[in-house]
Formats: sequence, C-alpha cells, structure tokens
Amino acid sequence: MGDTSVAPPGRVGRKSTTREPIIQEPVSSEPGSEPEATRRDADITESARANRGWWDRNADEYQIEHGTFLGDDRFVWCPEGLDEVEAELLGPPEELKGRDVLEIGAGAAQCSRWLAAQGARPVALDLSHRQLQHALRIGGTFPLVCADAGALPFKDGSFDLACSAYGALPFVADPVLVLKEVRRVLRPGGRFVFSVTHPIRWAFPDEPGPEGLSVSASYFDRTPYVEQDDEGRAVYVEHHRTLGDRVRDLVAAGFRLVDLVEPEWPDWNTSEWGGWSPLRGNLIPGTAIFVCERD
Ligand SMILES: C[S@@+](CC[C@H](N)C(=O)[O-])C[C@H]1O[C@@H](n2cnc3c(N)ncnc32)[C@H](O)[C@@H]1O
Repeated sequence: MGDTSVAPPGRVGRKSTTREPIIQEPVSSEPGSEPEATRRDADITESARANRGWWDRNADEYQIEHGTFLGDDRFVWCPEGLDEVEAELLGPPEELKGRDVLEIGAGAAQCSRWLAAQGARPVALDLSHRQLQHALRIGGTFPLVCADAGALPFKDGSFDLACSAYGALPFVADPVLVLKEVRRVLRPGGRFVFSVTHPIRWAFPDEPGPEGLSVSASYFDRTPYVEQDDEGRAVYVEHHRTLGDRVRDLVAAGFRLVDLVEPEWPDWNTSEWGGWSPLRGNLIPGTAIFVCERD
C-alpha cells in the first residue's frame, strides 16, 4: 500500500494478508513500485479501464486464493458464505428450470455452473477476459460473454432473471446506467439480485482485525477508492454508494426493491477474505444483497 493515511473500504479483490502488495506485477515503469491508495474521482471510462486491467492481471491469484471457498459449481453470494441453496433469493431452485439467467461480473462463472445444474440457461458475462478463461478452464456448456455491464450486448427482454455476486456494481462509476441496462434485458416481472460490500464498511479501515472496528472515514463520503500508478493512472477503483443511494439508484432505474439481505456471519465460517473476518462479521454487516424486480 502506498498512502497509509487512506482508510481503504472493503476491497473485494484484495488478498487476505495485508502485508503483501495488492498488485503482484508492477503497473508503472518503475520496477518494484507499488500502487498508491487514495480517494479521488474516477469516471466511467477510467474505472472500467482500470478494473479490466486489474482483474486481467489478478484473476489467476484471485482464483487460487478464493476458488476453494467459492467452489467450482456453488452459488456463494458473499465472503460470509451465504449460499443460494439456503437463501433462495432467485426463487425456489425447482423453479429455475428452463429460465434464462444473466450472471453479471461472473468471474469464473461458479454461480452460472450451479444455475445450469438446476436446469436454468445461464449466460455468464464479465469485463475481464482472464476471469472468463478461468470459467473455460473449469468448464460448462453455457455461453461466456466478455463485455461491460454498462453496455449489455443483448436484446430487450432476453432474460427471466439476472444475478451478480459482487460483480460489476461495486466497481462502476454510474450504477444507474448498469441497472437500467439490466432492467432493459429482463422480461416484465423479471428479478435482479446483486450483492455488494455493505455501505457501512466504507466508514471503517479494510482490516480483518480490531483495527478494522474503529470508524476512520465518513460514511457519507462518496469519493471513490482508487489505487494509482506513478503516473497517476488508476489501476483499481471501487465506488461507494450509501444504502439510501442504492435504493434511489434502483428506483431511478425502474426497479422495485423486494428485500435487502444483510447476511450474518455463520459459526462455521472461520475464513478471512481481505477485510471480512469472523471478528468483524459478528459485529458489523459486511455484505448487502439487493433483491429487486421490474414490473
Ligand atoms: C469480486 S469478482 C466477483 C466474481 C464472482 N462472482 C466471484 O465471487 O468470484 C468481481 C468481478 O466483476 C467483474 N467486473 C468488474 N467491473 C465490471 C464491469 N463493469 N462489467 C462486467 N464485469 C465487471 C470483474 O472482472 C470480476 O470478475
């Protein structure tokens, strides 16, 4: 980490240990230099470019670190470990048969693989080519699409359901644009369920230990979290929306909020994932899952 004065929010892609650098390969011209963490504006184009590069460079490591926890063909919503088998946020599994489902920010498409096993017809979309190569490596018979969630390459009304487990929404500068795109490709009555870092986490340092329990930044500060190289180019971006912002974004995009799930930390889960840990998970929410529908 460069600037330690910045209290980083929940960085979804970060490694579990805070001692190692986030980016393994230097991204600037200076060998060995690490990106600087800061809070500053980052528009749609810069955010997408930075995150495509970050996920392409870090997909291998991400899958090595988190692949076992996620499982090849499970549908895990969050570091708390909430599984769609128990949550049924997309509806009862038996009703998924024959449904067209879009997974946004699919990564290695673990969730799509579970959906396919229920008889659904998933399409797994991700911005990162390297993440989708991991989806290919694990296998499956459903389509993989490399595209930005802000410009979905599908006709209106192509899907019955859409889902996203920490894909795209934490990283985009214009969430309403993405939500409008998702609404467009859903059929009337369609449901969209997505998980993101719980907004309250942005007020705390992204540390799994006790240092991650003291408020260090304003919850109301919407300035994005940016890691940048020596030239000031963003190499990783996350965007903060308060809980109220998220609700307003959904409504602005034409969705109705059906449920807001804040998964509690279960006893069985002793794993850490970046700043998510049993210690913090037992005290403050780490994930928000929005369940919404279009009329
Ligand atoms: C934390 S991973 C989540 C993937 C998977 N659900 C998992 O749990 O591993 C976030 C994913 O979102 C993708 N992503 C980020 N911004 C995106 C965008 N604008 N459009 C589509 N995918 C995006 C990244 O490439 C990455 O694969």
